[in-house]
Amino acid sequence: MAHIIDGKELSNQVLIEVSSEVERIKEVHGIVPTLAVVLVGEDPASQVYVRNKIKRAEEVGMGSVSHRLDAKSTQKDLNNLIDSLNTDSQIHGILVQLPLPEHLNEDEVIARISPAKDVDGFHPLNVGALAAGRESLVPCTPQGCMIMLRQVHSDLSGKSAVVVGRSNIVGKPMAALLLQENCTVTIAHSRTQDIEAVCRKADIVVAAVGRAKLINSEWVRPGATVIDVGINAIEIDGKRKLMGDVDFDTVAPIADAISPVPGGVGPMTIACLLMNTTRAAERQLS
Ligand code: GUN
Repeated sequence: MAHIIDGKELSNQVLIEVSSEVERIKEVHGIVPTLAVVLVGEDPASQVYVRNKIKRAEEVGMGSVSHRLDAKSTQKDLNNLIDSLNTDSQIHGILVQLPLPEHLNEDEVIARISPAKDVDGFHPLNVGALAAGRESLVPCTPQGCMIMLRQVHSDLSGKSAVVVGRSNIVGKPMAALLLQENCTVTIAHSRTQDIEAVCRKADIVVAAVGRAKLINSEWVRPGATVIDVGINAIEIDGKRKLMGDVDFDTVAPIADAISPVPGGVGPMTIACLLMNTTRAAERQLS
């Protein structure tokens, strides 16, 4: 049976570090690192995510402000809010929860956030810096996955890693981070031929496709490390259950290590968001 990578426990360790960093910044610089979270509309999953982010920010002693805009808000309303957060010296990190309602342009919103306050790491300048291997604000979920992988592998150099999924939020930045650690990286996606065989060659599989239980034991080489980024809400017997992209029950017995859902990548994402916010605050001081 695989070692279970406990994201809750690991995220608590990260949060303790963030918490002492927040205290240090308060003491030395007399400011409170503060995160602004923007939610447009009423998407139930987004409401839960935003609530958790604010709650955790408060737990580590960080400041937080939450802006809720009506689902019918215009691009101009949202742009104006971002402009005011960009120029507000009390705000160090800005997160606009995605997805946005369809009439709003996500790319325009992301590009409008000041790169220095872009704690999601989605701004084109931060994306470019990561691709070039330069210092940047790094997307939270892939950063959390890397911390989990480093728990299991003291050296990732030379390992073959397959990232399943090519989203801007997870797949692409994940591949860039693995490459920085000298992995041999493949991004597999819906058009990949014989995707099962591609995954079966990997020492490390990172699943970020958004399809419940897609990856079963046929896809995984015995002894591989598997990180499950999927959060799929499934109804079973009238009850809503969260399920990963990995079929945990068939993969756990053959893998070397595996992250569960829930209690895996999810808590790590929030911890990394708060870590990014303290980093952003520090950089804005100097
Ligand atoms: N929606 C799903 N994941 C994310 C994320 O990491 N950041 C933001 N802003 N929205 C999301």
